[in-house]
Amino acid sequence: METFLEAKNGPIFVAPMVRGSELPFRMYCRRYGFKILYSPMIKSEQIVKGDKQEMKLLETCEGDTPLVAQLSGRDPHTLYAAAKIVINAFGKNLNAIDLNLGCPQKCAEKGKYGAFLLEEPDQTFKCIKSLCKASNDHYKQCNKRVLIFCKIRIGQTISETLKYAQVIEKAGAQLIAVHCRLRQSKNDGLPDYKHAKALVDKINLPIVVNGNINSVNQAKSVIKQTGCLATMSATAILRNPRLLRLNGSKDDEGLSSPSSLALEYINFCAQYPPPDPLYIRKHFRWIFRNELEPKVNLLTDEDWKNAINDEKNGWKIKLWNFLVRPYLNSLDQFKDICTLYDFHIKADNCNSNMDKNANINIIPTFKSIKTKKLENNNKKIQSAYKKI
Ligand SMILES: Cc1cc2nc3c(=O)[nH]c(=O)nc-3n(C[C@H](O)[C@H](O)[C@H](O)COP(=O)(O)O)c2cc1C
Repeated sequence: METFLEAKNGPIFVAPMVRGSELPFRMYCRRYGFKILYSPMIKSEQIVKGDKQEMKLLETCEGDTPLVAQLSGRDPHTLYAAAKIVINAFGKNLNAIDLNLGCPQKCAEKGKYGAFLLEEPDQTFKCIKSLCKASNDHYKQCNKRVLIFCKIRIGQTISETLKYAQVIEKAGAQLIAVHCRLRQSKNDGLPDYKHAKALVDKINLPIVVNGNINSVNQAKSVIKQTGCLATMSATAILRNPRLLRLNGSKDDEGLSSPSSLALEYINFCAQYPPPDPLYIRKHFRWIFRNELEPKVNLLTDEDWKNAINDEKNGWKIKLWNFLVRPYLNSLDQFKDICTLYDFHIKADNCNSNMDKNANINIIPTFKSIKTKKLENNNKKIQSAYKKI
């Protein structure tokens, strides 16, 4: 446990993220020195049924460790069976299984799992016990310990959060990550770190604090404030992992152009195909968000038309919209997006009459990206897409 959680300097955990923490993204983060990474939420019912799309979340590779697999669900038997599958699939890379007790989405409300288990402490207790049993059974067989973690949200009051954490501790979990926002707040608004501090004071388990950690300095300050073992971050790492690396250098900032980040992620996709091209589109939207997302609400068609026709920034809005198009599904198309972005930035910075049409043969256009054929793509990713 101690070697896995090496607590010096308060490490930053990379949070579980649906369509966010899949294998190529994990490998891209590991390149920046992040050590403890979570899989996206894996639905226990789906995995036990052998659902094809869910099974793709079990992809791993040499070096994808330490790894925490996150499971969701509310039925102890199903969770036990899912834990066995996950332990088997991730093999020696797996260090822990985390039970998702924080998902606020509609699917969790419908299935009464995630953050909706907060109202059912007895059921939560049974679920954790069942995961601990799966871990113990595995230990008896292989002599390798898979830890059991829980990721929770805060309750309405500190005492509600504490009460829930006590149930989790009693059931045998070995670490709690607390997302310091209420279920109703989803991922928005300021977190209340007082809940994390209370857990550190009263619960005899390592506590990891999560919510709005977007720089190394902030991570350090929140560790100081709460006494937590570590911090966990999600959206800031999706946008730019370079700004959260503990051993980063000043050079990182200079390197932080979104297209260089996007190309780096794409290179990992070529090596480790994501479950679906949708993942790449999602990651591109996160990476380019700061630069491309319109800063104002464009509510009417008229607003859009005006924004797109804006001489200076129109291309940004067009590109931002373009990134969600379903025909974007090959690595070459995504690389072209990076080239197109760099070209526009350069043209804007030159502030000259750089003739955008003069380079038509070498600079990709929206149309050329759209119509680009899949044939030229990396074979590995092509065959992965064929399975979809
Ligand atoms: C795209 C996305 C997907 C997420 N998926 C999961 C998930 O699968 N499991 C989970 O426990 N939390 C999930 N979360 C919540 C994050 O793990 C994290 O708790 C939340 O974003 C707050 O951290 P942040 O303020 O650093 O973004 C997700 C968040 C985002 C933005």
